[in-house]
Formats: sequence, structure tokens, C-alpha cells
Amino acid sequence: MAKTAPRRSEQLSDKVSEVTGKVQDSQAWNSIFRPGSIFRKGYTDSPRNRSYVIMNSVLYHLHPVKVKRHAVKVSYTLCLGGLSFFLFILLTVTGIFLMFFYRPTAAQAWDDIYSLQTAVAFGLLVRNMHRWGAHLMVLSVFLHMARVFYHGAYKPPREFNWVIGVMLLQFTLLLSFTGYLLPWDQLALWAVTVGTNMMGYTPVFGKQVRFVLLGGFEIGSNTLLRWYVLHVLMLPFVTVIFMAIHFWRVRKDGGISGPL
Ligand code: HEM
Repeated sequence: MAKTAPRRSEQLSDKVSEVTGKVQDSQAWNSIFRPGSIFRKGYTDSPRNRSYVIMNSVLYHLHPVKVKRHAVKVSYTLCLGGLSFFLFILLTVTGIFLMFFYRPTAAQAWDDIYSLQTAVAFGLLVRNMHRWGAHLMVLSVFLHMARVFYHGAYKPPREFNWVIGVMLLQFTLLLSFTGYLLPWDQLALWAVTVGTNMMGYTPVFGKQVRFVLLGGFEIGSNTLLRWYVLHVLMLPFVTVIFMAIHFWRVRKDGGISGPL
């Protein structure tokens, strides 16, 4: 019987599978997709490959292998810790947007905020998202702490994570307070004057604490620069480190607390 020539579509599909095979054999491809990935050549749905998928993926690896049934119920945690984390990410993203239009000097700060609201596309929206997000984060972190307390999750073995949490609460409040000065309006100036005067009553080192916070004897350009650096760099950096420890401890302390 005469052999029929392969059709054009068959030729094309042969070519595609030849190229796909070559790509999947390449060192570059296999360095990205580790063993167990469905994108690897010859993947099969076996128990071994399933455990590889979990072990070799950053995102899956964040989750424990076993999760207690009550821990995945929204009604147990009310997702308040997750919500606090989400708000932190939102504040970081909106904060980076604001940084493009803001200069931390006494002469320019307020004008920059004003033109951000009036002349920049989505400026007012993003500023309000940042401001409301900050208020909401203070609220959600506080409610998260209340939830943890209500469930007695501060007790062993979670007492260290409770302390890390208290530090996170402090950083959240400090982020909120340092951000308050940045618009350089009357509300900000007087709120910060009252706040730093109160800190001036710290026993023994009161005057020095006030001097360091103000960058001088009274509120001025130095204060603005100091609080700006604290707000956009130092406090977020320290907060991220503490959050990483916090999440890691949730895992290592046996997952979310709950009825034994
Ligand atoms: C930036 C602030 C914070 C973030 C982003 C955060 C995030 C989280 C997340 C995602 C969890 C997992 C369970 C859940 O969603 O409730 C958790 C658990 C926990 N958090 Fe926080 N948290 C923060 C502040 C705090 C504070 C202020 C405290 C207490 C002073 C605290 C103490 C704890 C404890 C003890 C657990 C384990 C709870 C359990 O096992 O039931 N956290 N946190």
C-alpha cells in the first residue's frame, strides 16, 4: 500500500513537540522547574512528585503539611493577622507611590502634598488609601491581639510569639505616629509637638529623648527629615524582620492555637 505523506498539521505538531522537548531538556529550564514540577519532562501524578511539589515551591512551603480543621475556619482567627499583613503590603505599595511626589523639607512638604491631591492622577485616591489603611492597620492589629488574648494563645508554647507581637504593635503605632508629621500641616505640627513634649517627661533621659526625636530643641526641618527616614525606611525594615519571625514562630509553635 502506498505511504501517504503526513498532513501539514501533523508536521506542525511534530515540530512543536520537538522544540518543547528540547526546551524541557535544557539546563536553564530544569534549573527553574525543580523535580516534581508539572512542567518537567515526563511528569507523573505520583505521591513522590506530589510531596516534591510542596517541598520545592516557596509559596506551598509557607504552609504546614498538616493544618488543624479549626485553624482554617475564618470564624476562629477572623483573619485579623492576615488582614494586618495585607494592610501592611497595601501601605507599602501606596507609600512608594506617594514617595514619587513628596520631598521631606519644610519648604516643600506641604506644597507637594497639596499638588499630589490636586494635580496628580489618582493622587487623592492613593493618599486616602494610605491614610485610611494606616488607621485600619492600627485597628486590625489591636483586634488581632484581642483575639489572641481571648483564645489564650499567649500561653506556652506561644509566649515568645506574643512578645514579638507586642513589638509589632509598637512598630505599627510608631509608623502611624511618624507618618502623621509628614504632611507638615497645622494638625501634624501640633500633634507632634504635644507627643514629643510628653516623651520629654521620660524619667532621667527626658531632655535627651526629646532632642533626638526633634533633631534640635524645637520642631523644624530636622525633625521632618528624621521622621521621614524612620517612616519610610527604618521602621518598615524592622517591621518586616519581626513579621518574618512572627510567621515562622506560628509554624514552629505547632500552627494556630486551638482546642486540644
Ligand atoms: C503587624 C502586626 C501583626 C501581624 C501582621 C500579625 C500576623 C499574624 C498572623 C497572620 C497570624 C496567624 C493567625 C491569625 O491570622 O490570627 C498571627 C498569629 C499570632 N499573633 Fe500576630 N500579627 C501581628 C501582631 C500581633 C500582636 C500585636 C500580637 C500580640 C501582642 C500577636 C500575637 C500573635 C500570636 C500569639 C499568634 C498565634 C495565635 C494562635 O496560635 O492562635 N500578633 N499573627
